[in-house]
Amino acid sequence: MWDDLKTAAEKRPTIQTLFEADPKRAEQFSISQGDMLFDYSKTQIDADARRLLLAMAQEAGVEAKRDRMFSGAHINETEDRAVLHTMLRNLGGAPTGVPEEEYHEVLSIRAAMETFATAVRDGGFTGQGGAITDVINIGIGGSDLGPAMGTLALAPYYDGPRVQFVSNVDGADIADALKGLNPETTLVIVASKTFTTIETMTNARTAFDWMKGQVADPATQFAAVSSATDKTSAFGIDPSRVFGFEDWVGGRYSMWGPIGLSLMIAIGPEKFLEFLEGGWAMDKHFQTAPPLENMPMMLALVGLWHNQGCGHATRAVLPYDNRLSRLPAYLQQLEMESNGKSVVMDGGDVPVHSGPVVWGEPGTNGQHAFYQLIHQGTRVIPCEFLVAREGHEPELSHHHQLLVANCLAQSEALMVGRSLDEARDIMVAKGLSGEELERQARHRVFPGNRPSTTLVYPKLTPYVLGQIIALYEHRVFVEGVILGINSFDQWGVELGKELANKLTPILRGEESAAAKDGSTQMLLRYLQDKS
Ligand code: F6P
Repeated sequence: MWDDLKTAAEKRPTIQTLFEADPKRAEQFSISQGDMLFDYSKTQIDADARRLLLAMAQEAGVEAKRDRMFSGAHINETEDRAVLHTMLRNLGGAPTGVPEEEYHEVLSIRAAMETFATAVRDGGFTGQGGAITDVINIGIGGSDLGPAMGTLALAPYYDGPRVQFVSNVDGADIADALKGLNPETTLVIVASKTFTTIETMTNARTAFDWMKGQVADPATQFAAVSSATDKTSAFGIDPSRVFGFEDWVGGRYSMWGPIGLSLMIAIGPEKFLEFLEGGWAMDKHFQTAPPLENMPMMLALVGLWHNQGCGHATRAVLPYDNRLSRLPAYLQQLEMESNGKSVVMDGGDVPVHSGPVVWGEPGTNGQHAFYQLIHQGTRVIPCEFLVAREGHEPELSHHHQLLVANCLAQSEALMVGRSLDEARDIMVAKGLSGEELERQARHRVFPGNRPSTTLVYPKLTPYVLGQIIALYEHRVFVEGVILGINSFDQWGVELGKELANKLTPILRGEESAAAKDGSTQMLLRYLQDKS
């Protein structure tokens, strides 16, 4: 099937030819879900290629596996775990196949989160110095990126205490976050599924020590989000402020549950529930819409077409929504930790390249940075634009019009490009002629025929953010199933952690570096040279 995909990609017509051949292409190659529209007409996918992609999804058994995921089957085979993050946002009762008790456990933990978040927000929970003014979420990867991205995205709804996020083991991160804070009115949330992650535990201890001098019992101003309750107790955190979750929630899929506590404190339980509702609406759409009208399915197939079919190794995520500035980073973990693997479920090799490199920045900022390469570089980079119909600042609607105009202009420019003749005309109009005209004109050619998709949503509300995040989660799932990958483990992050643990005693001067390679030894010498 991969060979067929590559053959179809080799024969792909240009985007403009496709539009010329089919005046209704935009309607035929777009999907709506609720108020959201996903337009993939500015790609080189034609009806045959789409049929082939859909057949691939069918052959891979995407729908059956989707149903197994939602009902709690252990589809994370290498860790023998269920994958049930969708249950965290299921507001309609226990999913078929999942024991009622497990669902009730989700509800009771959410209720406990709501009680705590409300108390932090309204002063029911206080620090030694009174009402909480600042919250520091200490976590990394999935225990940071989701709530950090969400808190920024939903800034217009943010009415709780100030929430900051500390993730990096670089002391600069926590030092900057704590600067100027009053330890007596600061709440620290240690968010770590395992409660062993070195970065998080180091930062947590630093925060504890910072409070120690000034707060009689710092542990009373700590809460934890973790599955490892023995370790949270050993840290001294009272079980009433520990919010647990099960091993069926992967780190990068966890912002819907207790890992979202800091977000819930920022925007309040009601808005957090709206976020869950949006995710749940996307789940229902994913479970019921026929493949051709199924947004996560088609987003995934477009991704496979570009990466595995056409060989475009990277994917740019370009939100024309400044508050989604952390979305590319969030999607990097979601996509690359999920599908950046070389081995299929049964241990064989992935027959094609695995998931793409995901990167991006908000527009219009990116336009003044890296879009040059997207338009005229030698590599084709499929772009995924996101844009809201409406901003949160009605008084600044002229800004929003400019934002939208720029977003649409970019996808148009990528598709249409500018021919040499058009470039010549521009140079002639500027009074150039002869060799100089030719030379200058060539620099002004845009090849065009560069693919992009656009996701339009009404406004970046909690509900819409929920839809968007669930959409991308399911997209990664579909891609993973077709690639034959287990999207829910992350063995690739282990080796670096192990080696870092072995290097720490060398840096402390407790062990010799003799067994290390020449490069590492040289770097160590250089880094340890205090002269
Ligand atoms: O980077 C690996 C990883 O396990 C991620 O999958 C996870 O989101 C992150 O570390 C944090 O893990 P924990 O929540 O256990 O601290």
